[in-house]
Amino acid sequence: MSIVTKPLSVRWNPEQPIDDVTQMGQPVTPESVIDEIRSLRKQLGKSLILLGHHYQRDEVVRFADRHGDSLELSRFAAKEKDAETIIFLGVHFMAETADMLTDPDVAVVLPDMRAGCTMADMAQIEDVESAWEEMSALIDGDDVVPVTYINSTAAVKNFVGRHGGTICTSSNARKIIEWALSKKSKVFFFPDQHLGRNTSFELGIPLEKMILWDPEEKMGGNSRDSIKNARVLLWKGHCSVHQHFQPSHADIWRERIPGIQVIVHPECSYEVVQNADFSGSTAKIIDTVMKSPSGSKWAVGTENHLVERLGNMAKKEGKEVYSLAPYACLCSTMFRISPESLLESVRALVKGEYRWRVQVDDDTRKGALMALDKMFEITGK
Ligand code: 13P
Ligand code: SF4
Repeated sequence: MSIVTKPLSVRWNPEQPIDDVTQMGQPVTPESVIDEIRSLRKQLGKSLILLGHHYQRDEVVRFADRHGDSLELSRFAAKEKDAETIIFLGVHFMAETADMLTDPDVAVVLPDMRAGCTMADMAQIEDVESAWEEMSALIDGDDVVPVTYINSTAAVKNFVGRHGGTICTSSNARKIIEWALSKKSKVFFFPDQHLGRNTSFELGIPLEKMILWDPEEKMGGNSRDSIKNARVLLWKGHCSVHQHFQPSHADIWRERIPGIQVIVHPECSYEVVQNADFSGSTAKIIDTVMKSPSGSKWAVGTENHLVERLGNMAKKEGKEVYSLAPYACLCSTMFRISPESLLESVRALVKGEYRWRVQVDDDTRKGALMALDKMFEITGK
């Protein structure tokens, strides 16, 4: 079985005609695969629910019963009462979160275990624990609230829960960091330095009051004084998709299309966010573009599958949507979930087997749930 994909251009030439730089190209899934997924899905009825993230490719996300951003998906999982199995069309940390938010007898399946998140992998629990120890030797640990982005392992969420901290998504980061800053004098934020920096800056924390914690360096690469003076300590992690965007990309589009508006995800760098007109989670990006008047033109800085899907929806309402940087911006780990791997998971379920079940152990789940419950307490479920 083969999937034919139109290759992405590897380099963006600003002189290239606009039509050429917005097309991702759609892979072609054999009809037999689509038909079999649909018929097995019907057979499984309400016992199965499929949740898909906005970055998932069309040929996979079309099977999702519900799709959304990370916050919406965790809410769907938390409220799910009928299903015996959830197939997650996202990445590993999302499946882990769904497993922790559902009853223990609900199985969560990820069709391809290689669908991880490079950002989550940047904060290994051993490194987080030793950073905490090093920091606590210098400053009172009771004066620091640890906050982890939901894009982190269950082990890191457990750590945060057991140290009085919480979790945020890109949709609620502002409320969560605001809460953390009101509780203690310092916030230790991981794994995404950019979401932490952009949100803290928006809340009025100057850049001089934020330091970067590099887990490879002694004391994170900081002096004692800078640690003592900091209000926000940012883990040196990033998203490999969003790091490709540059501030100059917005300038290129503004020059090409006068009046174009630029909206980016807060996983982009501070400089990119500062040079954009708006920033926000995937849900906010969709909402802003879809609510804009007909004739609006947008350059969008986030994962290209979402940008292309949004472009197709917006086009019907007379709007134009372009990728801020049309090359190399797809989440290659999420892309590992294919219609074929989904079919294998559904075939296994029909036989009463799991391919592949994501299950968080009870001890980890306990601490992580304290952190997740706190998030919902602050932001509402
Ligand atoms: P949101 O779904 O919160 O917008 O985050 C994007 C993302 O990177 C998911 O991994
Ligand atoms: Fe992780 Fe970035 Fe992919 Fe989101 S887009 S899942 S942060 S690698």
